Amino acid sequence: MGGNTFGTLFRISTYGESHGSALGVTIDGCPAGIPLSEYLVQKELDRRRPGAHPVHGEDVKLNPAVTARKEADEVEILSGIFEGVTTGTAISMIVRNTNQQSADYGDIAKKFRPGHADYPFLEKYGIRDYRGGGRSSGRETIGRVAAGAVAKAFLESKGIRILAWTSEAVGIKCANFDEGQIEKNPMRACDADAAEAMQARVIELKAAGDSGGGIITCRVTGDIPVGLGEPVFDKLDAELAHGILSIGAIKGIEFGAGFEAAGKTGSENNDPMRANPDGGKPRFLSNNAGGILGGLSTGADILFRAAVKPVSSIAKEQLTVDVNGKDCVISTHGRHDVCLCPRIVPVVESMTALVLADLWLRNIADRA
Ligand SMILES: Cc1cc2nc3c(=O)[nH]c(=O)nc-3n(C[C@H](O)[C@H](O)[C@H](O)COP(=O)(O)O)c2cc1C
Repeated sequence: MGGNTFGTLFRISTYGESHGSALGVTIDGCPAGIPLSEYLVQKELDRRRPGAHPVHGEDVKLNPAVTARKEADEVEILSGIFEGVTTGTAISMIVRNTNQQSADYGDIAKKFRPGHADYPFLEKYGIRDYRGGGRSSGRETIGRVAAGAVAKAFLESKGIRILAWTSEAVGIKCANFDEGQIEKNPMRACDADAAEAMQARVIELKAAGDSGGGIITCRVTGDIPVGLGEPVFDKLDAELAHGILSIGAIKGIEFGAGFEAAGKTGSENNDPMRANPDGGKPRFLSNNAGGILGGLSTGADILFRAAVKPVSSIAKEQLTVDVNGKDCVISTHGRHDVCLCPRIVPVVESMTALVLADLWLRNIADRA
């Protein structure tokens, strides 16, 4: 299987299956001198962990949206740091699987879950690790989040901040933006009232053996240099789309005004510019471009939204076929989220950080 590596200069290779012995990542090309600790990586992994409330370490009972599976997801950094900083050598990180309950997944060994990767995986490889979905499990994102923590630390040292949140879930939209709310409610929503309504809906869906999707919004702020991105095949928006759409269950991405731009006139959609009275970078009076023009960052906030599909493994009975090609029904039990948005928020931040760290390093090579 190819395609386990992402990035050009800040390059990650991830490995591991849901119910194998471990998952992890090796980062090649991380600059020396970035303060890094297991605590910093663990903090990000804890935000992604099943059974975790967004507030570090709280109990799953508070979060109806996510699976009751409890895993420590404890990271060990094997190489690449010394005396609390990166050394410039390859950084390898490992998370051992400690809570595999393969028996929970008995039915999916013989039947294909509609909406999951089971069928094309078996057709393609002729062999499939059905325990928890193997490499197509959401646990695959552990390596991305561990590496993303390092990329975030690098970007923070450059004054760049990445924030993602749930802006819509299970059919309920946030009406207000309150940044302080995001890590306080189990949906990672930016609106406390909407978060309450989402949780109530999640409980209904769970009782009905069903699931729901949503939308994650991401905003990059701070000292974003003008010109991140390579203007032909590796445009900033193309690279972000690659990173974000490579996350399981993400089905769409739009930048700035996104698909709404198609219905606007040029004069409505263009972001007017004014000189900066302090002599710095010009200002944009709006941000329909989402901070990207010609595949290059403009220095304005980078803004995008990603669509998350409903979780495919549901208890409700559905029509499918078995591995012998016979019609059957499937009802997936075991430990599955009802809505993935709160768990994918940190994965979106991580992939964004990995893309930006890579393009930041590539940008250095672009001009003498
Ligand atoms: C963090 C995370 C957790 C996930 N948890 C589940 C889950 O519990 N059950 C499930 O059916 N899919 C889950 N998924 C989604 C599947 O991995 C994904 O739907 C599957 O690989 C098929 O790929 P596709 O939906 O992108 O086509 C999760 C994804 C992520 C990123």
